[in-house]
Amino acid sequence: MSETISRRDFIKVTTSIVGGMIGVAIGVPAVYYLIDPALREGAKEAWIPIGKLENMEIGKPYAFSFTRVQVNGWERTSTSHGGFVIRNSDDPNDLFILNSRCTHLSCTVNWSENDQVYLCPCHDAKFGEQGEVLDGPPPRPLDRYDQFRVTEDGTLEIFYQEG
Ligand code: FES
Repeated sequence: MSETISRRDFIKVTTSIVGGMIGVAIGVPAVYYLIDPALREGAKEAWIPIGKLENMEIGKPYAFSFTRVQVNGWERTSTSHGGFVIRNSDDPNDLFILNSRCTHLSCTVNWSENDQVYLCPCHDAKFGEQGEVLDGPPPRPLDRYDQFRVTEDGTLEIFYQEG
């Protein structure tokens, strides 16, 4: 006995299969979109590798920068950070790290090799080698990244905390 499928049944089955596939294709990303922010947690603190110690010349500011992405619900915000490592000697822990954000209105300062100062392009402030204010409106010296460590492979890392 042979079974035949009617044209109507064939269309019903085919429509159901295609409809189901479309539902999965749309539904899975939609569900992921809705629950994703709840699953992700933007790390508020982290160790950030900023370079190999062997590449940082003693007595000369070593510039670095990095970007952090904060997730707040469905909003993603990326912020740039940076600074300068100043090694005082061969001792891996004998160094300090300045934040390159000007303490006046947060512009990024640059090291001037000629003048041996950090210059802020926004209001012409000058900071000395230790980050102290030499000239201009900044109310305090450049901030420092106080927590750092050197890994076994000689990478300098700083501890970043949001805020
Ligand atoms: S932001 Fe640097 S001097 Fe104003």
